[in-house]
Amino acid sequence: MNRTDRDVDRDISRQAPVVGLSLHHRDSDMLQDLVKLPEYGPVVRITHGDGYAWIVSDPTLVRSVLKDMRFSKEGRHAAPWFIDESGLIGSPQTSVASDIVTSEGEEHRRLRKLHMLALSPARVQGWSATISAVVDELLDDLEHRANTAAHNTPVDVVTGLAYPLPLTIICTLLGLPREVHQLMRNASEKIFFGGSAAVRDKGREQLYETVAELIDHEPNRISDGLITDLVALTRTDPPQASLTEVKAWIPSLILPGHESTASLLASALYELLSARHRGAITTGSIDAVVEETLRLHPPFPLATWRFATCDITLSGIDIPRGAPVLVNLAAVNHDPLVHPCPGQFIPHRDPINHVSFGVGIHYCVGAALSRLETRTAISAFFRRFPDARLANPDVAPQWESELLSRRIGTLPVILAAR
Ligand code: HEM
Repeated sequence: MNRTDRDVDRDISRQAPVVGLSLHHRDSDMLQDLVKLPEYGPVVRITHGDGYAWIVSDPTLVRSVLKDMRFSKEGRHAAPWFIDESGLIGSPQTSVASDIVTSEGEEHRRLRKLHMLALSPARVQGWSATISAVVDELLDDLEHRANTAAHNTPVDVVTGLAYPLPLTIICTLLGLPREVHQLMRNASEKIFFGGSAAVRDKGREQLYETVAELIDHEPNRISDGLITDLVALTRTDPPQASLTEVKAWIPSLILPGHESTASLLASALYELLSARHRGAITTGSIDAVVEETLRLHPPFPLATWRFATCDITLSGIDIPRGAPVLVNLAAVNHDPLVHPCPGQFIPHRDPINHVSFGVGIHYCVGAALSRLETRTAISAFFRRFPDARLANPDVAPQWESELLSRRIGTLPVILAAR
């Protein structure tokens, strides 16, 4: 029998080293640990449940694992020790129907096609005027708050702009009534940064039940949008989707649809205001600012869970069948061989390569939307407040990380005179 490269790999295979990394950092910065992981090996393990989770950090391996069909996002491949703290795969609400994030193959292609009805770059461009209008309204609010407070009182641009913009846009795109937007926000906060399984469960319950209640009992409160488009597909002959599916899909748009863009927008504002304080000249287009922020501060530093569908050897390291696998996007973005001074914000890098929206067939469906929202908000913010400055320029912002997400908690800014 001929020896294949894989056989040779097996002869020298070894266990991944175990590192003491926690996915619960609420008041600290997971990114700093993640960018150092490649120093411990191309693949490492962390303890997880009663077993381990594997983290792939070597930049070349990261890109190949994201395209390698032997790593599946379907929860049915997970080993018994796997605990889905995120609730993406294992919660009572998410398990009722397959969704785009956790499906593969033909089913994933079907769901992706339906989601792209609303989120293709061409459709998103049609949202430009709405996004500008929401940004203007939020900037009016910020200005009003600053004007009614004592001179130079800082305003928090995280709660005043970074969160409400993508929340309003995703809820409007879906057709959700304004009265439930804040409820969606509160539920999402519990799910992403709730700190405990009980709080995350509560958030999921609130989110799913509110959406289901509207679809089942108060459809007249839902405006034309993605929900009505999807519900229409349940009435075609034959039906292209079921109501149970539609109810299960909406939360997986609301959640990533605003948490990640909020993190991106707050990080971009921080970097630009911080550069201004240091007297650094930020050359680079608004597009480059957004891309460099995505590289430096990936809102999801780790991609969502994948599971080894068979025994796999990567760079001589064994990953057993069923292994839960995380892919370290942050390590690719901070690869010093590709990005000199990777920890610095340098928007005139050329090219700016990052994998913050993933790679391959699960590439983020919301990338065009979040880019448009962030560019629009940054341009309008600096047009409106050309003298804005950080309230605490010499203090690093409080980064918060939990499970797979990272963000700035608050960002007090002095808007200054117009
Ligand atoms: C800065 C903003 C965003 C970032 C950094 C981001 C990041 C990502 C990443 C890394 C993935 C791939 C996950 C994986 O392969 O495991 C992904 C997928 C996805 N994102 Fe985003 N996202 C953002 C905005 C959005 C928005 C605005 C929406 C919805 C409107 C959205 C919806 C989704 C969905 C549904 C998927 C699953 C796609 C699939 O599996 O085919 N995301 N996102």
